[in-house]
Amino acid sequence: MRKRKIIFDVDTGSDDALAIVSALLCPEAFEVLGICTVAGNRPLPNTTDNTLRVLELLGRGDVPVIMGAEKPLVAKNDFTRVIRQVLETKNEKGETIAYHAESLPIPPTTHTALENEHAATWLIKTLMAAEEKITLVLTGPLTNFALAYRIAPEILDHVEEIVIMAGGDNQTNSTGAAEFNVFFDPEAAWITFDAGLKVPLTMMTLDATHQAYLTPADADRLRKMNNPLGQFCYDEITERLKAYNYLQPLGTPDIAPIHDALCVMYLLDPTVITKKEFLHVDVVCGGIANGLTLVDTRIWTPDPKNVNVCFATDTAKFREMICSIFERSVH
Ligand code: BDR
Ligand code: CA
Repeated sequence: MRKRKIIFDVDTGSDDALAIVSALLCPEAFEVLGICTVAGNRPLPNTTDNTLRVLELLGRGDVPVIMGAEKPLVAKNDFTRVIRQVLETKNEKGETIAYHAESLPIPPTTHTALENEHAATWLIKTLMAAEEKITLVLTGPLTNFALAYRIAPEILDHVEEIVIMAGGDNQTNSTGAAEFNVFFDPEAAWITFDAGLKVPLTMMTLDATHQAYLTPADADRLRKMNNPLGQFCYDEITERLKAYNYLQPLGTPDIAPIHDALCVMYLLDPTVITKKEFLHVDVVCGGIANGLTLVDTRIWTPDPKNVNVCFATDTAKFREMICSIFERSVH
């Protein structure tokens, strides 16, 4: 298997954490050059600290972490308005739902983010210096990439592919119209979709990621690894099961989508996606449908195609792939 150089941009975040872990456990497939952080699931200091904790758990404090945008480009959405209410809630049994915990339940680290460096400028510097094209895996609001691309559009000459978790076709979560990463910073998503006219851009929609789930049986399987990573996976899956059962039932009880990890599984094996089409995608910025991704499936659309839209996942393949990758940590 060819080894890809990748850069993550994350808002860790329980599913971002599992995406990072899965990539780092596949050194034959990925060289992780750095991890940029952005405000999203939690404010920037927390998404950064959580990312550093994940690296510490894997003994990978050598991977640089670079802090990026604290706020969306334009939108007035901030952490408090968008999701606080959802994150700080209790279910019908009175249990607190620690979905995307402020601090993930793993030890802190003495490693810190790079000093005097913003993710957008680091991205530009790193891409422009790259001798080999780099794949970008963006699993949070798209603010950092949008800033970098606006400042230096020539970075795309050094990008092999961009894979994002964003948007939806029929599925939404933050509002009746929008998926969280796009809703948080719709203008950044719009700028990112423009990049898709120039380099391959693949979007894991909620339609696909709602089928990229783990179950209580998977959580038990991973706990049996009997190591700190197994316990962490168990804890995160269990929190997500609780959150989805209470906040966003998806029609089947006891399933926990691990949205962001689908980007990594797709790069390892594109057949994990069972329906994908190259289409024109746009974003609604503002108004009642703020953050809606408009996926144009018309054959006769006059608008240019810019995004490989992933609509469906082979759930059994996803579950087996990701669980067996986590199990590498015991060997
Ligand atoms: C996306 O939003 C975040 O809450 C998750 O980390 C994922 O990236 C799902 O809509
Ligand atoms: Ca995320």
